Amino acid sequence: MNSWSRSEKAARMADLPQAPAQLSKGAEADLQVDIEAHSVAADASQQRVCIIGAGKAGLVACKVLHERGIPFDCFETGSQIGGLWVLNSDSGRSACYDSLCTNTSKLRTCFHDFPMPEHYPMFCTHKQILEYLEAYTEHFGFREHITFRTEVVSILPSLKDVCTVITKDVETGKVQERQYGSVIAACGHHWDPLWPDLKGEFKGTMIHAHSYRSPEPFEGRRVLIIGGGNSGMDIAAELAQSGAARILLSCRRRVHVVPRYTFGKPTDTRLKPWLGVTAPKGLLQLGATAVIRLSRGSQERFNFPPPKAGLLRVHPTVEPGSGNILEMIRDGQVLARPGIQHVKGHTVHFVDGSKEEVDDIICATGYNVRCAFLPADCSVMENGKPELMHHIVHPKLPGVYFLGFIQAHGPMIPCFEAQMPYAADLIQGAIELPSEEEMRKQIAKQHELNRQSFAQIERLALLVEFHRYLLQLRLARCPQSKSWLGRRLWKTRTFMSFCAGNLC
Ligand SMILES: Cc1cc2nc3c(=O)[nH]c(=O)nc-3n(C[C@H](O)[C@H](O)[C@H](O)COP(=O)(O)OP(=O)(O)OC[C@H]3O[C@@H](n4cnc5c(N)ncnc54)[C@H](O)[C@@H]3O)c2cc1C
Ligand SMILES: NC(=O)c1ccc[n+]([C@@H]2O[C@H](COP(=O)([O-])OP(=O)(O)OC[C@H]3O[C@@H](n4cnc5c(N)ncnc54)[C@H](OP(=O)(O)O)[C@@H]3O)[C@@H](O)[C@H]2O)c1
Repeated sequence: MNSWSRSEKAARMADLPQAPAQLSKGAEADLQVDIEAHSVAADASQQRVCIIGAGKAGLVACKVLHERGIPFDCFETGSQIGGLWVLNSDSGRSACYDSLCTNTSKLRTCFHDFPMPEHYPMFCTHKQILEYLEAYTEHFGFREHITFRTEVVSILPSLKDVCTVITKDVETGKVQERQYGSVIAACGHHWDPLWPDLKGEFKGTMIHAHSYRSPEPFEGRRVLIIGGGNSGMDIAAELAQSGAARILLSCRRRVHVVPRYTFGKPTDTRLKPWLGVTAPKGLLQLGATAVIRLSRGSQERFNFPPPKAGLLRVHPTVEPGSGNILEMIRDGQVLARPGIQHVKGHTVHFVDGSKEEVDDIICATGYNVRCAFLPADCSVMENGKPELMHHIVHPKLPGVYFLGFIQAHGPMIPCFEAQMPYAADLIQGAIELPSEEEMRKQIAKQHELNRQSFAQIERLALLVEFHRYLLQLRLARCPQSKSWLGRRLWKTRTFMSFCAGNLC
């Protein structure tokens, strides 16, 4: 697609994915995709970009393309913007619950050129975030490019720089085939619940955190929550204050719990960009651990010891907005339990030999990371690791740019704002992708870096070091046309500017 040289394109023709992914049987019949037929419309569509999803990532994509004057269409399954910040979204993809508020401060979570309103609290409710995303969309004026209730069901990169995108009108079922020069996949990865493989048969009700909305259905009930991530702890803290009879929290691995504030300041504002990219990781970890210990005390004090792996080697859980979970554990409002050995009827047996009777289980066990519309032989994850250079480009799908397929010790908006200009530079040809072989080498390096930096737990496969990742993307945008000296100077200037706080 648009970032390959002609000879490379020819060499890769054989590797192009050959079939649209996962279509309903009825749709499949209508969608016999003929690659040669697409090439007729190639010239007209070469410049046009298709954006999949109008969540935070998709909105950043819209804004950047709109500003650069690149024509685009954005398709959104739901009937409004905002992605997972829409409660009870008709997209069916949002995990938003009534009490959800951000776990990243408004100072860090905002767009770089559109601050959050002053009257907003430091940690915002989902309603405020949605309102803020609406205001962003209005302010930058790209709403007319978004088509709602339209799902992208399949993309099929083909020859001559064209990607065929098949959309389905969610209301009427009408299927349409369109051609684009590039695709931005900003479809989120918190929609496909990952269920635990429990041994035995549970006779009570079991739901996934994805469908949890409010505590009322659990009043007077004995509830077990599985998973100590942000979902699990948020739900446990909320249920503990809402009349559930007994709340158990099962963590098969221990977790770090990070306070929202340390010494009166949001914890996530403490690490400055220059420190994030220059200080050795060991030192950062020591510093972060010390600040938290001095400010709040150690987790042992709350009978909830942290894991052996250091704070920055895992994805810590942020103290829930609805209450101090460590105090609840210490005071017995939430009963911490280890992993589950098996279940029988209403009895849950834990690996330490203890057992509990429960009515309901809420699996806050995270999500499968996948894109349903990709060609059958392409996946964002291969063997549990992201097959994406810079977490953006799949070597088999140049011209398709994935936004948001990362996790970081920090807010996501700055990550989208760093990813999108890199994708836009590629779309405009200011920079070029390396060869497929080189991309695979870079991906292997990235996996090695992840191995060295983080505990090797499946759910951390998308984890990046926040500031280092943002800088990596800034530097990857060095214009190809510059001389060796020009590149050196450009990179030095960019590094200095990044350290001063210009992250994208
Ligand atoms: C419960 C929860 C709380 C979180 N809290 C924070 C926080 O406090 N701070 C923070 O920085 N991050 C937080 N995150 C991380 C969060 O993922 C990001 O902040 C961000 O909202 C993700 O945006 P996104 O656009 O990538 O995905 P989403 O918000 O999921 O948006 C994707 C959009 O794409 C649409 N879509 C998907 N597939 C298709 C398709 N095939 N065709 C058309 N449309 C499609 C969906 O309908 C959706 O609207 C949280 C995550 C969860 C699950
Ligand atoms: N307030 C907020 O802002 C907020 C709220 C909710 C979620 N989020 C964000 O949303 C994302 C998803 O969070 P999440 O908590 O839903 O998922 P998550 O971060 O993937 O955590 C899943 C938890 O479930 C455990 N788990 C997974 N599979 C299990 C199994 N088979 N048996 C037992 N335990 C299992 C994991 O333990 P292991 O470590 O052992 O795998 C982990 O503790 C994160 O980025 C999070 O920050 C934010």
